[in-house]
Order: sequence, then C-alpha cells, then structure tokens
Amino acid sequence: MIRTTTAACATLLAVAPAAAQNASPQLLSLSCAGCHGPGGHSPGPIPSIYGRSPAAIAETMRAFRSDQRPATVMNRIAKGYSDAEIDALAREIAANWR
Ligand code: HEC
Repeated sequence: MIRTTTAACATLLAVAPAAAQNASPQLLSLSCAGCHGPGGHSPGPIPSIYGRSPAAIAETMRAFRSDQRPATVMNRIAKGYSDAEIDALAREIAANWR
C-alpha cells in the first residue's frame, strides 16, 4: 500500500509542473488529490487539506515554494506553480474540498 502510494506520487510529481501550464483549476487540483486524497481527505500519512481557507492554502504553497517551510516533496511541487496558479488552486480547493 505504501509502495503503491509512493509510486503513484512519484508519477504525479513528474507530471504536475507540466500540467500546470494551461490547466483549469479543477484539473490542477487533480494532481494534489493524487497524494492528498479525493477532496483532500488523505487515506494515509500525507496530511489532509480539506476545509481550509484560500488564504491559508495559498500562504502555505508560497512558503513551500520559497523553502521557508520545510518539506520532503511540497517544496519541489510548489515551484511548478505561478502565483496566479496558486491563487486559482487555493480558491478551487477551499470552495470544493470539504
Ligand atoms: C507527491 C505527493 C504530493 C502531491 C502531488 C501534493 N502534495 Fe501537498 N503534501 C505532500 C506531503 C508529503 C506533505 C507534507 C509536507 C512535505 O513533506 O512535503 C504535503 C503538505 C501539503 C500542505 C500542508 C499541509 C499541512 O497541514 O501541513 C498543503 C497545503 C499542500 N500539501 C497542498 C498541496 C497542493 C495544493 C497540491 C497540488 C498542487 C499538493 N499539495 C500536491 C504530498 C503531496
């Protein structure tokens, strides 16, 4: 189970920055759901991210992107997203992940 999750996440890690180029917020958030669980309800050790405000999500993503917040993978993932994409993702996740 853990091995499967790791393999799936490694694949998502590889495609996430490329997918971020021209994707809708819904499409962008699919790569997040691959690790954080459907609707942000994580089934495993990765933190759940549903029920957060857009500001909290965007702030956390920017802190990962600038390496101000320590991370194993999120700092690399966050670097694949522009400010506009982070704001769009944060709005999408806050509005629809409950
Ligand atoms: C490869 C798996 C993976 C993907 C894909 C992924 N995350 Fe994460 N995320 C993690 C892990 C693991 C952590 C814990 C911090 C760390 O070790 O990097 C985390 C932490 C977070 C946190 C902080 C949660 C907390 O309470 O500490 C947020 C917010 C977050 N991710 C948002 C996102 C968003 C938005 C996306 C899609 C753009 C995304 N993540 C994609 C694995 C992933």
